[in-house]
Amino acid sequence: MRTQVGIVGAGPSGLLLSQLLHLAGIESVVLERRSRAYVEGRIRAGVLEQGTVDLLDAAGVGDRLHSEGLVHGGIELAFGGRRHRIDFEDLTGGKAVMVYGQTEVTKDLNRAREAAGGAVVFEAEGVRLHDFDGAQPRLTYRADGAERELRCDFIAGCDGFHGISRRSVPAASIATFERVYPFAWLGILADTKPVSAELIYARHERGFALFSMRSPSRSRLYIQCSPDEQLDDWPDERIWDELRLRLDAEAAARLETGPSIEKSVTPMRSFVAEPMRFGRLFLAGDAAHIVPPTGAKGLNLAAADVRYLSRALIAHYKEGRDDLLDAYSETCLRRIWKAQRFSWWMTSLLHRFPEESGFGGRVQLAELDYVTSSRAAARTLAENYVGLPFE
Ligand code: APR
Ligand code: PHB
Repeated sequence: MRTQVGIVGAGPSGLLLSQLLHLAGIESVVLERRSRAYVEGRIRAGVLEQGTVDLLDAAGVGDRLHSEGLVHGGIELAFGGRRHRIDFEDLTGGKAVMVYGQTEVTKDLNRAREAAGGAVVFEAEGVRLHDFDGAQPRLTYRADGAERELRCDFIAGCDGFHGISRRSVPAASIATFERVYPFAWLGILADTKPVSAELIYARHERGFALFSMRSPSRSRLYIQCSPDEQLDDWPDERIWDELRLRLDAEAAARLETGPSIEKSVTPMRSFVAEPMRFGRLFLAGDAAHIVPPTGAKGLNLAAADVRYLSRALIAHYKEGRDDLLDAYSETCLRRIWKAQRFSWWMTSLLHRFPEESGFGGRVQLAELDYVTSSRAAARTLAENYVGLPFE
């Protein structure tokens, strides 16, 4: 089989790339290790920057997003027993974010690919990348019990942090930068009424807590926990009790409990691989970088990579120009490092660091006091949270 762009991974990055290329008349085939049901069942984050919403609109998958997504013009920071609002619309000249689950984004993209007759091979086993340092890269894999080969002009490695694409690059050609945090998030999804109209990021002596939502009747909450936390030790009731202790008094009083639909532990890591291009292989999304979820940047960064990569591939095929492909890695990395900085900062500001003496905690409180009392500081947070401008 032959195509123009061979895409590894049918997460948001791979599916969005194939959809944008399709709209520009460029063929692709997506190879995904898991089943469609598995990919669509994964619960992930849920905050979209305006730029991500615009790109999903451009990809023709914005309808459900606009009818079911919740526009949020700010977030709340809770600390020292009180809640303080950061008003994005006021601080950024009218910008906001959209709360809409990544799971739903993936479903919308799969549906659009299916409607357009797009080739997405689920349960493709043993995907291998070949010859991307030359002019004719290839992907090999097994599907329906047979060995297959996909020849292409370019490979897009959109296969997430644990994927094969980044690991196919010779170690001497790639540099990685990493920080692993000494804590994780325990998340719970439940059909309970949100306790607040906006997200609450809470700093507490017992550890961080986040109140988020998926709809007016579905809540998503997280508490900081240890990285090796066992889910069995956390029956729903214990999670609700812990949330009540960590959220501000008003939110705690309004907290409605109910059975969990999903529970999971998310490790916290900052990671960047450089560069993001190796000959005819381009990495995008979690395959190249991971942020801790505190800044809500993971999916948005993946979408930004895809914006730049689709634009560069379209310039190659339609205008015979390769300058954007040549600039891809640097362009992406400028945005990625700024998002890394912001995600690290939000994480450091709000979590309990086990090894810290009292000094670090006092500095956090001072910084939170500063962020909620200085317009300049609040604006810095708001500008980064809603998403920095594109190049
Ligand atoms: N072969 C084929 N597919 C693979 C392989 C492989 N060897 N390894 C992984 N995959 C698939 C995974 O099963 C997954 O469906 O690649 C896909 C990668 O999807 P994501 O992990 O969702 O990564 P990405 O599309 O870049 O989306 C980034 O996901 O983790 C969040 O915070 C992150 O929101 C961000 C988004
Ligand atoms: C979520 O709703 O899952 C969510 C929201 C904000 C974050 C992280 C996760 O910072």
